[in-house]
Amino acid sequence: MLNDSYEELVAAIAGLLDGEQDYIANAANLSALVFDRLDDVNWVGFYFMRGGELVVGPFCGLPACTRIAVGRGVCGTAVARRQTLVVENVQAFDGHIPCDPISRSEVVVPLELDGEVIGVFDIDSPSAARFGDDDRVGLEAIANVYLRSLPAQFVVPA
Ligand code: SME
Repeated sequence: MLNDSYEELVAAIAGLLDGEQDYIANAANLSALVFDRLDDVNWVGFYFMRGGELVVGPFCGLPACTRIAVGRGVCGTAVARRQTLVVENVQAFDGHIPCDPISRSEVVVPLELDGEVIGVFDIDSPSAARFGDDDRVGLEAIANVYLRSLPAQFVVPA
């Protein structure tokens, strides 16, 4: 169940992406809106699967590591498990990849399209335990709006 603030945010994102199918344009605008609207976040963005690894896509925040192997870090682990990860304390997550040193907690939502993971949606906060189950549900709903914006049979360009 979406809480009221995520319901509003999901509606705003659906409006923002309406009528546009470009995967970069939509990832960029979505990241900018979420970065602006959510409190206490320092990185919001996308990684896409390219050549078997995650490659950074549009984001807001400090420059991030460009490539992440599947199974590595929070992002690569979310891909390997095909499961949203909510990490309360990134310093306690074995293999966490620090991009912005102020990040303390993180949510990574795998983007699954037609049974295939095409990337991840990643949100970092400078506060420990910033994200709870409401956030997981809300951020998964946001990721779904993004996935629904893509054209049928979308594949990430090589
Ligand atoms: N912390 C992530 C890397 C990406 S940045 O947070 C933007 C990880 O451990 O996979």
